[in-house]
Amino acid sequence: MMSREQNDQLSRIGPGTLMGKLLRRYWAPFLLASEIPAPDCPPVRVKLMGENLIAFRDSNGKIGLLDEFCAHRGVSLWFGENEECGLRCPYHGWKYDVTGQCVDLPSEPEDSGFAKNIKLKSYPCIEKAGIIWAYMGPPGLQPPPAALEWAEVKPEQRFVSKRLQECNYLQAMEGGIDSSHVSWLHGSELNKDPLFKGSKGNEYNEKDRMPLFEVEEFPGGLLIGARRNDDAGKYYWRITPWIMPWYSIIPPRAGHPLGAHAWVPIDDETCWAWSINYHPKRALTKSEISAMQDGEGIHVRYVPGTFIPLANKSNNYLMDRDAQRHGHSATGVDGIAMQDASIQESMGAIQDRTKEHLCATDSGIVMTRKLMLSAAKSAAAGGPVPATDPQAQRVRSVAIELDKGASFTQGAKHGLYAPLGTDPLSV
Ligand code: FES
Ligand SMILES: [Fe+2]
Repeated sequence: MMSREQNDQLSRIGPGTLMGKLLRRYWAPFLLASEIPAPDCPPVRVKLMGENLIAFRDSNGKIGLLDEFCAHRGVSLWFGENEECGLRCPYHGWKYDVTGQCVDLPSEPEDSGFAKNIKLKSYPCIEKAGIIWAYMGPPGLQPPPAALEWAEVKPEQRFVSKRLQECNYLQAMEGGIDSSHVSWLHGSELNKDPLFKGSKGNEYNEKDRMPLFEVEEFPGGLLIGARRNDDAGKYYWRITPWIMPWYSIIPPRAGHPLGAHAWVPIDDETCWAWSINYHPKRALTKSEISAMQDGEGIHVRYVPGTFIPLANKSNNYLMDRDAQRHGHSATGVDGIAMQDASIQESMGAIQDRTKEHLCATDSGIVMTRKLMLSAAKSAAAGGPVPATDPQAQRVRSVAIELDKGASFTQGAKHGLYAPLGTDPLSV
């Protein structure tokens, strides 16, 4: 069982907190590139790791992520105009460039030098894989851009969406690495969802509801193996990589694209659930993309004009008690993503882990928490943190049948560390 102090340490991510210091050592995906599509487009409000920020793309295409509030008297720069390489506050006209430097201050004489001393907090940003990423940590410790496989494939091989999740990032992430819930929570979807159906593995998932878990460390984080019986006297393994500090990759089913997530804190009580499908070898098909756009698989439909799921906390996730009673769905909530989100949000904004009773299938979760805490302690002391090296992030999920007695990490090694451009190992 976890102490209140440990639970707080793991969950709180604001500036200066233990976990906040760790998470700020990594590039954080925070906007779809399409949210600031062109030079001088309107700025976008961003809340990231408890900080209120404003993002914009300047006249030269450079991306700025600044303190949301004007250094003069605190007006939100969301009201500002993005013009000629800077964002101008509408109240008295102070203007800031992408580094946060005040470059024009019309209310003071030009030669006063006043503007030179005004600078807003700002964070470096990059654009990669159709996503804008920010680095919010100490400047001298900035790592290379994230190089997970999904971020490296060609654009036509990848589909990215994000949705607001109304709970702490950690409990969302713990859902992402908890392979044992799949038979229960998503049992009804596996053979229905166009991005999951048709896999032999689905049958094994349904038949064996008592998977045995083995967890092994690798340089990027953990490889979480869930073992079930198959039809051929072998074991069916689903191997979920968890990559520091917030990435998970879902084991594949049949020839479908791989699924992946990033669980990025907006603040202590909400997070962005980034959902990515990609195929390492081929372009996604038209029908796959239209299913994803339609909210199938790990994606959702939205309240128009937002990233809030259409089925959400305020409407009880459009739960259908009849569907639940007649066994069409364990929860009556439709779709894999919202089945996960509804269950995770129901635990409270920050789950009280002092009251939980963990069992054998939770071993991946236990080890993840341990690794996060020990990495956070290293970060707090200014020490190194794991998985900032792109090579450490290059791992893939695997679904495979292995002889009884075979080690899952050895037996699946060729799939876990397969080179770019090769087919996934899938059942
Ligand atoms: S508050 Fe922004 S210029 Fe005065
Ligand atoms: Fe799930």
